[in-house]
Amino acid sequence: MDLNHTLRRLGYVPVIEIDHADDAVPLAEALLAGGVGCIEVTLRTPAGLPSIAEIVNSGLPMMVGVGTVTHADQVHACVDAGAQFAVSPGYTHAIGRACHDAHLPLLPGTVTPSEVLTALDDGWHTLKFFPASLYGGAAWLKAIHGPIPQANFCPTGGIRDEDIPAYLACPNLAAFGSSAVAPRSMIAERKWHEITERAKKLMAVVRAHRPL
Ligand code: 3PG
Repeated sequence: MDLNHTLRRLGYVPVIEIDHADDAVPLAEALLAGGVGCIEVTLRTPAGLPSIAEIVNSGLPMMVGVGTVTHADQVHACVDAGAQFAVSPGYTHAIGRACHDAHLPLLPGTVTPSEVLTALDDGWHTLKFFPASLYGGAAWLKAIHGPIPQANFCPTGGIRDEDIPAYLACPNLAAFGSSAVAPRSMIAERKWHEITERAKKLMAVVRAHRPL
């Protein structure tokens, strides 16, 4: 899979914290109904890995990634659960090696040019930019595109609705992520209709810049 190409088509990756794996498939269905074709289920809750397995085994047309991978030891279980890509908040060579060995595409977290060059050196060309709002947001993407145009990014962290058009205008944006469409509390309350409506609203902005 070419992660950059796939993420450019999808445009948006909801970052999910989920408490009950039983909620995973209804959540995925709600997101799909709103035009979202990808999900990053984080390992911040014990229900993360089982939720990934539920969505993958459901056969829904949803690309499923695993987020908050902070140690190489986690990679094997992520592959077993069926994750199609991994996301780490920062980068270590050990995480990179484990993902290479497992043939698991990785979005390694970066915030400095040196971190970007290190990840590129290790063969990762689509990178997470986190926490994006604290490190310069869309202006950072624009600035780094000059000297390092071969890197593509998926920014997350503090991205507000009003920031989205500026991110979508960046040539090095693969996709962007946030928890805004499906916050943990809304999933716990099983507010599927509201999640679909939020997804539709956000994807209308994405599709205005990235028509299918
Ligand atoms: C995260 O990893 O927490 C994501 O970056 C989501 O950030 P947000 O909650 O600010 O959208």
